[in-house]
Amino acid sequence: MEVYNDIQSVQRKVNSLIREGKSIGFVPTMGYLHEGHENLLKAARKENDFVILSIFVNPLQFGDGEDLDHYPRDEEHDRKTAEKNGVDLIFLPTNDIMYPNPLSIEMTVTRRADVLCGRSRPGHFEGVVTVLAKLFNICRPNRAYFGMKDAQQVAVVDALIQDYNFPVELIPVPTVRESDGLAKSSRNVNLTEKERHQAPAIQKGLQIGRKMVEEGVQDPEQVKEATRQFLESETRGKIDYIELLSYPDLKPVDHINQQVILATAVFFERARLIDNVVFNQKSRASKG
Ligand code: PAF
Repeated sequence: MEVYNDIQSVQRKVNSLIREGKSIGFVPTMGYLHEGHENLLKAARKENDFVILSIFVNPLQFGDGEDLDHYPRDEEHDRKTAEKNGVDLIFLPTNDIMYPNPLSIEMTVTRRADVLCGRSRPGHFEGVVTVLAKLFNICRPNRAYFGMKDAQQVAVVDALIQDYNFPVELIPVPTVRESDGLAKSSRNVNLTEKERHQAPAIQKGLQIGRKMVEEGVQDPEQVKEATRQFLESETRGKIDYIELLSYPDLKPVDHINQQVILATAVFFERARLIDNVVFNQKSRASKG
């Protein structure tokens, strides 16, 4: 496994891979790898000749009050996890390598960003698309892998790829779950025993909404209300939002007659958990 901090070494390698006709799978991360990342790496390993993992805690996507300095890091563990999952190259740049000068040209996300979690994180998706545009140009992947746990990020990356014609196939990878359906998250350890017991209700509530639609309900308000009632009866968590939107456009819908996302965020005492279901599927982006 090769590990590079600088852009030139990665570009040299990528150029020779392209000359040899090798396909490149890319998994961008901010490190501190967990099972969700491993799932992305496994998918990339299966579908490509060469797998690149990037580890970079991107300062541009952190807002005021979001603690960039305390973002967890464990390079040793990440290297071992990468090795175990058959990564060929880790790109591990520093801030100075990625942003040697203040940017002269900035990207603005005009759609898909001001709903769901994006509503409370102004500037976040601008930071995400900026770093991904750079990483796509450096690593020149055939395929890039993203988890459907963050379905909004998948939708925004889909727009980036389409709007700017990146020759990259976006591969959304289904959320990894515990056996009781709870989406795996590093935040789950902050749940009390009682909350951990209640938390699988989040996915169950979303599935109730999905089932209603499959049985013919077309009114989003009715679906959201049923999910809300279930969550309120089964957990002590405080609901931040329950939204039902078209997917991947993330626009409000009057009637559910296209692919949609039903998503929620729930505050427990020391953890805010998010989850979603995408259904009425039409594409690979709907697998979450
Ligand atoms: O999902 C993440 O970890 C980050 O948003 C990403 C895609 C690596 C960009 O910094």
